[in-house]
Amino acid sequence: MATEPKLEIDALFAELTALACISEAKPPVVTRVVFSEADLRARAYVKGLCADAGLAVHEDAIGNTFARWQGAMPELAPVGTGSHIDAIPNAGSYDGTVGVLGGLEAIRALQRAGFRPRRSIELVIFTAEEPTRFGIGCLGSRMMGHVLTPAAALALRDKQGNGLEELRSQAGFAGALETVALPAGRFHQFVELHIEQGPLLEQEGIDLGLVTHIAAPASLRINIEGEGGHAGGKLMPGRKDALAAAAELILALESAAKSTGAIDTVGTVGVCEVFPGAVNSIPSRVRLETDVRDTDGARRDSVLDALHGACADVAQRRGVTITTELVNADPPAFCDPAILAAMEASAAEAGRSAKRMVSRAYHDSLFMTRIAPVAMLFIPCRGGVSHRPDEYASPEWIAGGVDVLARTLAKLTG
Ligand code: GLV
Ligand code: MN
Ligand code: MN
Repeated sequence: MATEPKLEIDALFAELTALACISEAKPPVVTRVVFSEADLRARAYVKGLCADAGLAVHEDAIGNTFARWQGAMPELAPVGTGSHIDAIPNAGSYDGTVGVLGGLEAIRALQRAGFRPRRSIELVIFTAEEPTRFGIGCLGSRMMGHVLTPAAALALRDKQGNGLEELRSQAGFAGALETVALPAGRFHQFVELHIEQGPLLEQEGIDLGLVTHIAAPASLRINIEGEGGHAGGKLMPGRKDALAAAAELILALESAAKSTGAIDTVGTVGVCEVFPGAVNSIPSRVRLETDVRDTDGARRDSVLDALHGACADVAQRRGVTITTELVNADPPAFCDPAILAAMEASAAEAGRSAKRMVSRAYHDSLFMTRIAPVAMLFIPCRGGVSHRPDEYASPEWIAGGVDVLARTLAKLTG
């Protein structure tokens, strides 16, 4: 007979709320940038909960955290679950955290039910899924999956010029970065629970999304060097206004993303830093950070090509210098049919509706596919809202996700 997980959803919801209060901003606004004081306090809180559940906790050289529930056959590779607890500025309470605390609750619900896994179950809390500090997303899982080399990681700096090495050691993480990459087979399988971050499940009244593939993200950093000067004294002819050039590029990206005609193509400029940033001074320098995604990698690349073309055109017409730096351009990832089938069977067993769908957001799972078979389970979030303080997932939605995650983990490890 299938294991019936014994969930304590009120306690889980209280933990999610407590975690959301560990923030650099005033609750309910969540800001938890990697290696900040809030990030370290949040890690300590979650590690404490893991220890209370009897899990053996260890951390790697970049701060990826592993909490293991030892199975009856510890020599077998574990099944992993988990997500991230860092949060972008002005974020909400559920992105990533539902996969971490929900993953922990899935383990506890199986423990309460008297289940004894054959394979160990390992909860993973990934370092810096969000690109806020270092400009690149999924730092921990990217290194774990051999996609970012230690040398490339050591070259990362935050906006204040602090290097990764200095920041990780201040945060208490040491050891050779080479040890972060894990061999294929270290995890038997990996399942990530996450909020959908889109509106479809709620709109369609469906409890769960079974993710079949994860869209391909890319990020291009653009530096524009123009010529500053007095906003009154310097006349319009012959100006080399870096921000006016940036404005053209922002619109060029929007138009390139729309022009593919595919609903899956999206392009965003989320960062625009202007120097010197004075109302009476012509901008001499601008830095843009762009985000381009698609379920089709080649179509995504065609948008990047169009953006590069626009850079060359704007530089030539406006007499500014434009340099670009491709931060990342990752291929899409595909979920494992066997785990999808186990999730589908678990949803049916739990009496929860489910549909297969694509993840338009990226996740640590994207990089875990490099070393293990992976799948993702989505729950609805109100209005599809995410990366905003009003992000919300109801206790009932969360309970559905944790219940099916627990049943899936039981099937994969029993
Ligand atoms: C993850 O946070 C993303 O931006 O998709
Ligand atoms: Mn996020
Ligand atoms: Mn997330």
